[in-house]
Amino acid sequence: MNFNRVAPWFERLEKIVFREQMQFCRTAFLSDLPEIKKAALIGEGNGTFLIQFLQQCTFEEIHYIDSSETMLELAQKRLRKNVLPGIERIEFHSCDLTHDAMPAQNYDLIVTNFFLDVFNEATLNEVVSKISSACTDEAHWLYADFQVTGNRFRRWRAIAWVKIMYLFFKFAADIQTMRLSDPSTLLDRNGFQVICSNEFDNGLMRAELRQRGL
Ligand SMILES: C[S@@+](CC[C@H](N)C(=O)[O-])C[C@H]1O[C@@H](n2cnc3c(N)ncnc32)[C@H](O)[C@@H]1O
Repeated sequence: MNFNRVAPWFERLEKIVFREQMQFCRTAFLSDLPEIKKAALIGEGNGTFLIQFLQQCTFEEIHYIDSSETMLELAQKRLRKNVLPGIERIEFHSCDLTHDAMPAQNYDLIVTNFFLDVFNEATLNEVVSKISSACTDEAHWLYADFQVTGNRFRRWRAIAWVKIMYLFFKFAADIQTMRLSDPSTLLDRNGFQVICSNEFDNGLMRAELRQRGL
């Protein structure tokens, strides 16, 4: 699996297909976050979310983790174009979480935007467990991803979109699955309960803010 090839086109494609809906979904609960000590932004891609995170949130340290060198370069390039507080407290980590360990422990915020959907069920289980064991007992988790839910019309629309996207990313990034797995049960099992949740683009996407130790 490698997103280097698709990285330069990712943002343009996203805007053409979904306009601002993915970004609305990623950033839905930023204003609900408490002060963060150590955040891990995982599989965070080209940095569109990072800029808004820096503008709206208070944090001590960010670990920006991605397996694609091109995605990491794009995020750093975007950062250089913006003068924002806390830039010097961001560490970029080239990490493939299917093999590598989390770069540190005791994260009190995890962010996974449109990241967990690239894994098959077995790997998803391992990745979510790995991330969870690097978190504090009261950590928050910001989650955004596609979903198939709702009435018949919404479900058919979602199934069609998901199929198109998986075909595209299988070809462009060789992702390891062609099926969307909902990680809700895994996140619940690792102690992260939903505090708030919202849907976007007629239910095609879901944002959740979860927390442990409630
Ligand atoms: C579908 S893109 C989503 C990017 C971004 N979070 C967003 O919302 O646009 C998935 C991202 O996860 C990264 N990724 C895929 N597999 C990974 C892995 N095993 N470890 C770390 N990052 C991974 C890719 O390089 C890519 O940047």
